[in-house]
Amino acid sequence: MFLEGKHYGLGLANAHNETEQRLAATEDLFDPMTFRLLDELGLPPGARCLELGAGSGSVGRFLADQIEGSTVVVTDIDTTQLRDLHEPDNVEIREHDVRTDPLEEGHYDLIHARLLLEHLPERLAVLDKLVRSLRPGGWLMIEDVDMTNMAYLDHHRLFFEPHHTGDACRAITLAAVEHGADLGLDYCFGRELPRHLRNAGLVDVDAEAASRLVTGGSSHAVYYELLLPHLRVALRDRPEVQESDFDDWETALRSPDTMFQGLTMVSAWGRRP
Ligand SMILES: C[S@@+](CC[C@H](N)C(=O)[O-])C[C@H]1O[C@@H](n2cnc3c(N)ncnc32)[C@H](O)[C@@H]1O
Repeated sequence: MFLEGKHYGLGLANAHNETEQRLAATEDLFDPMTFRLLDELGLPPGARCLELGAGSGSVGRFLADQIEGSTVVVTDIDTTQLRDLHEPDNVEIREHDVRTDPLEEGHYDLIHARLLLEHLPERLAVLDKLVRSLRPGGWLMIEDVDMTNMAYLDHHRLFFEPHHTGDACRAITLAAVEHGADLGLDYCFGRELPRHLRNAGLVDVDAEAASRLVTGGSSHAVYYELLLPHLRVALRDRPEVQESDFDDWETALRSPDTMFQGLTMVSAWGRRP
């Protein structure tokens, strides 16, 4: 069942065979932006950091290595993919469901979560809980996707090369966004982040959005390709999409002649006053 146990999103789970490769592709695609923005926060030596829904843990590792004297708590509802996180003294791995398990109050200098809140129907209550877990002056950085461009905009106005590949991509993305919404998931949540961070009482709220042009057959295309088998199952009854759309998009994703504008990642951050 989606949303139960250690499954999340549209049929994903860290126990699946391809997870290691999918999380590696996720890190390959998004780590450069995340690392740069975390660097720019200028966290102090000795910072207490919390990395939530850590996947295979690249961000936790980055915080532990880059911030002198830091202590880093790295959590996930399923920590199996964190087994290779070398565990120096300053890293604690915690199996933790952010929806229901407790967090320290007024404790952290930085809390970070990427590609997590969009999957959780309870995302706004979780956001409040994270703010309470910051110490005064501590930073919260949340990163989630905004698929508005791929799902709702006329694909002829977006970057798709060759042009017709946009048809299948848009149908699949539209079905995923709509089906997600029916289940309480929000794959356009990224664009809501700055507003919600302000509403949760944070100050100095700022944000950045980035979308890559992805070449078929590249390591970045692998991220999209590995999601396809899950989407084929999850979206089989959706009226927006046909079986042939999956076949066409899979072929396009493997072809070096394809280039398309991928999803938008929104990174938003703010500080507890
Ligand atoms: C799409 S992956 C992203 C992994 C990592 N944040 C990254 O960006 O590379 C989502 C992760 O959140 C974890 N997760 C899902 N629901 C969770 C929950 N309720 N509490 C904690 N972690 C959760 C999943 O197990 C998975 O590792």
